[in-house]
Amino acid sequence: MIKIPEIEVQNITKIYGNIVALNNVSLRIRDGEYVCIIGPSGSGKSTLLKIIAGIVKPTKGSVYIDGIDVNNVPFDERGIGVVLQDILLFPNMKVRDNISYPPLVKGLDYKTVNSITSEIIRNISLTVLTERFPDELSRGSQQKTAIARAVASGARLILMDEPMGSLDTRSARQLRHELRSLIKDLGLTAIHITHNQEEAMSVADRIVILRNGKVIQVGTPQEIYFNPRNLFIARFIGGELNALEGKVKEIIGNYAIIEIESLGINIKAKIMDKINIGEKVGIAVRPEDILLKEKSSGINTGIIKSYKYYGFYYEVFLDVNNTVLQIKVPRKRWFSPTIGEKFDIDIIRAYVYKYPEEGLEKAIAYE
Ligand SMILES: Nc1ncnc2c1ncn2[C@@H]1O[C@H](COP(=O)(O)OP(=O)(O)OP(=O)(O)O)[C@@H](O)[C@H]1O
Ligand SMILES: [Mg+2]
Repeated sequence: MIKIPEIEVQNITKIYGNIVALNNVSLRIRDGEYVCIIGPSGSGKSTLLKIIAGIVKPTKGSVYIDGIDVNNVPFDERGIGVVLQDILLFPNMKVRDNISYPPLVKGLDYKTVNSITSEIIRNISLTVLTERFPDELSRGSQQKTAIARAVASGARLILMDEPMGSLDTRSARQLRHELRSLIKDLGLTAIHITHNQEEAMSVADRIVILRNGKVIQVGTPQEIYFNPRNLFIARFIGGELNALEGKVKEIIGNYAIIEIESLGINIKAKIMDKINIGEKVGIAVRPEDILLKEKSSGINTGIIKSYKYYGFYYEVFLDVNNTVLQIKVPRKRWFSPTIGEKFDIDIIRAYVYKYPEEGLEKAIAYE
């Protein structure tokens, strides 16, 4: 059986002039794992991928592939397939020939090349397009061909930097699942960088979040969604957040009762940092974790300031005591908002963190 690579990144720092692109990053990617790297622009995602690939040398630290330090192994000897946002195909070769090019160059016999190519083509459902030239394909199919070619090279580790970045939303949604199936069916290890946190949530076994050159959380999509380690992550996964100031009233196990003076209410929040009674804290409430009640009883009541319609949900801006909360309201029979209408709220999930030194706004900024 072919060994699927395990990647270990150990204390990697990369400095460009006075920019610290990566700051002491350590990471372990298991055999056959599909890992997505997400983070704001400039957080070091591409730099990390290039260092693993051997395209860029780290300032400090090492990369191990299957336990072997590969710092002095050049890119083309690392057995890695790379797919980038810009689709690179041979324009004068048909789809099939593009895919069979790497194994042919490696000197495999024609029969083996043919069977490798056919298997990959079947797996990524490119069957009907194999006799076309790249410019006769949609961008989605072009990128599929590029992925198929990376896989055909025999690489056991596939690194992808925003592979869906140049595709329209519908093609990207479809391709990401095909891509994951292909990687899993062939038992490969993949690292996939994306700007799109929804893409990461839906395809990754584990997600790595980078910010300012540092790994700030690693976990399964569910672990990260339900246990965001800081306010920034609570916002980044989902894109929107109500970040509020509160005061700790009571601690009950893993939860605390928090007074949110600006709203005039107390809420129960999951404790994410060490906090003490009486302390000022930062509270994260996701827009989907605030419910509007069908009938207003005059408790925890807000007034609709504005709203946006998204088909299957409304985004409502509700003024509670002069603090505006952003709320996602799924489509319901009784709910058709009008400005000025009053609703009671129920906060069903919240997280409490130490109050950030830099203030709430900066703590959740993308920079
Ligand atoms: N060759 C280089 N020379 C100088 N600075 C660089 C170089 N490559 C990257 N940087 C800097 O390192 C930091 C990290 O860049 P990187 O491209 O890894 O970020 P990224 O997370 O991939 O961002 P994006 O989402 O925009 O692609 C940035 O501040 C960037 O300007
Ligand atoms: Mg990048």
